[in-house]
Amino acid sequence: MCGIVGYVGSEKITNSVLIDGLKSLEYRGYDSAGVATLQETGVRITKTRGKVASLEDKLQRHQIPSSTLGIAHTRWATHGIPSKTNAHPHHHGAVTLVHNGIVENYAALKEELIQVGYVFDSETDSEIASAYIDYMYRQHHNKLDALVAANKAFKGSFAFGIIFCDDEDTLYAMRRNSPLIVALKDGASFIASDVPAILKYTKQYILLGQDEIAVLNKDTQHIYNLNKEEMDHEVLTATMDAADIQKGGFEHFMLKEIHEEPRAVRDTMAAYIKDDIQDLVKNLPDLSKYNEIHIVSCGSAMYAGMIAKSLIETKARVKVDVEIASEYRYKDPILSKDTLVLLVSQSGETADTLAALLLAKEQGIDTFAIVNVVGSSIAREAKYVAYTLAGPEIAVATTKAYCTQVALLSLIALNLAYIHNRITQKEIDQIIEEIHCLPDILNELLKDEQYITAGKIISRHSNVFFLGRGLDYALSMEGSLKLKEISYIHSEAYAAGELKHGTISLIEKGTPVIAICTDERLFEKTISNIKEVKARGANVILFVREGLNVSEDYYDYKIEIPKVDMMLQGIVTVVPLQLLSYQVANLRGCEIDQPRNLAKSVTVE
Ligand code: F6R
Repeated sequence: MCGIVGYVGSEKITNSVLIDGLKSLEYRGYDSAGVATLQETGVRITKTRGKVASLEDKLQRHQIPSSTLGIAHTRWATHGIPSKTNAHPHHHGAVTLVHNGIVENYAALKEELIQVGYVFDSETDSEIASAYIDYMYRQHHNKLDALVAANKAFKGSFAFGIIFCDDEDTLYAMRRNSPLIVALKDGASFIASDVPAILKYTKQYILLGQDEIAVLNKDTQHIYNLNKEEMDHEVLTATMDAADIQKGGFEHFMLKEIHEEPRAVRDTMAAYIKDDIQDLVKNLPDLSKYNEIHIVSCGSAMYAGMIAKSLIETKARVKVDVEIASEYRYKDPILSKDTLVLLVSQSGETADTLAALLLAKEQGIDTFAIVNVVGSSIAREAKYVAYTLAGPEIAVATTKAYCTQVALLSLIALNLAYIHNRITQKEIDQIIEEIHCLPDILNELLKDEQYITAGKIISRHSNVFFLGRGLDYALSMEGSLKLKEISYIHSEAYAAGELKHGTISLIEKGTPVIAICTDERLFEKTISNIKEVKARGANVILFVREGLNVSEDYYDYKIEIPKVDMMLQGIVTVVPLQLLSYQVANLRGCEIDQPRNLAKSVTVE
C-alpha cells in the first residue's frame, strides 16, 4: 500500500535513486507516482497519474535536474481517487512529505487547520498531515519538536518521508504501524518502505521503530523516540541480492516466481526438517498444549490456511478454524488459554492480520506467525515466528510465497500428527523421503505444458467455476482467486457437493468448469459432481492426480498431477493451477504483475 523512498547525499542523483527505488516498490501500488526534490529555487514537485514509468518520462521531458535531497512515492489510493492532485508528495508551507498509511483522525485535524487559514486541494489525509506538521513547525520553531507534536496528534498508521524547505541537508522520517527502513552508505542516507529499494546501494539497513523519528544527513543518522532520546538500532543485512528483484530473463515476475518454487519449497522445508522428525520438534515451537488453532489471514494466505485445516484435522485430529482476518478482528472471537492463533502472511504487514494478532496478544493468547518478510511487523509482534524462505516476491499475485506457506503448514501438520501419536514411523519416513523428491517433482511440472491448451479454452470465456472437495476445495479457492485477479475473468470456487444447491443454474452449454480431483478419499464423490455439471453442458477441465482413473465421458480436457503423499499434495497441485492462470492472463494481454486496483502489501483495513 504505497511505497516511499528518500535520499540525501553528496551527489546530485535524486532522480535515478528515487525512480529506481520506486520501480522496485511498485508492487506496493501503482495508481500514481510523484517526486519532490529540493532545488536552489526551492522544492520542486513532479507528479503523474499512473505508473512510475510515466513519472520518469515526465522528469526527462521537463528536464527536471537531480539534486542532493529528495523524496518519492508510488500510490495505492485509499483516500481520494487516483489522480494527479491526490498523488504525493504533498506540500504545505515549509513541509513536503510522502506518506504510506492512513491518518485516521484527519477530518478533525483538517477542521483545526481550516480555522487557522490552511486551504486544501486534495482529498487525502496525507495533505492534512503535511499541513499539520507545518503548523506545528510554525509553533515550535524546531523541526524535531514539530515532528514529535505531530506524531502525538496523529491517530492511525504512517511512514513519512519529509523534507523542510529551509534545510537542504536533512531528510526526516517518522513511522507508526507502517514499515520504514533507513540505510547509510558512502556519503548518503536512504529511507524506503522495503529493502529492494536500497539494494543497489547497500545491503545494510535498520528498521525504524514504532513512533521513532529519523534525522538523516549524508554522513550521520540520528534516531529519536518521542522523548527526544537518541535510540540505537541493530544493523541488519539483507539476504536478497539486486538480481533477486530482476526478471532474470522471464517475461513477467509472476512466471519467474513460479519457476523459483522448487528452490523456495526446498529451502523452506530444509530449514525445518532434514532426515528426522525430531528436526521438526526442535525447529518448530512446541504446539502440544493447544487443543484448538485459529488460522487467521487474508486472501491466498487464508487459502493456504484452509489446506492446513484439512491436513491438521485429518492427520492430527486437532480442531482448526480458518478465519478471514478482517472479520476475526471485529467478531470478539472466543479464545482460551488452549487456543493458538496462527497468522499466515507473506508480507508480514497486512493490516487486518496484524490487528488480529494484536487482539489475541492483548488477551494473553499465544500467537504464532508464518511470515516471509524477515523483521516485518507481524514477525516482530508474534510470540513465535517461523519464516518461509520464498525470497522476495514482486508480482502482486502470490505464487512462490503461497507455495512455501503450504509447505511450512504441511510440516506443522506433520509435527502435530507426530506429537499427538497419530502417525506411524513408516508413514513419517515415507513423507520425509518424498519431501526430498519434491523439488524434482516441481521442476518436472514446470516443464509440463498440459496447461497451455486448457489456458486457450479458458481465455475465451468470461465465467469459470472451480470445483473440489476437502483439500481440493481449498486448492479450488486459490486457483479461482489466481485466475480472476490476473485475467479479470469472473470465477467462483465451490465445494463440489454444494453447487447443486443453487449455483448449478448458471451452468449452461460450454461453461468452463475446472474440477480438481487429487484426494483419493473423496474421488468418487467429486466424480459424481463432475457428472452433474457435464450433464448440463459444462466444458470440464479436469486436474486429476495420476493413478485415479476417470472415464473420458466426464471431461473435455485432462491435466495429470503427480501423486505424492496427501500431506504434500497441495504443494504440487497448485503449480499447474498457477501456470494456467498465468497462461490465460497472458493470452488476454493483461498486466500480469500489476493487476488493476490491487497492491501487494495491504497495510490498510
Ligand atoms: C493473492 C494475494 C493476496 C494475499 C493477501 C495476503 O494473489 O497475493 O490475496 O495473499 O493480500 O497478503 P499477505 O500474505 O502479505 O498477508
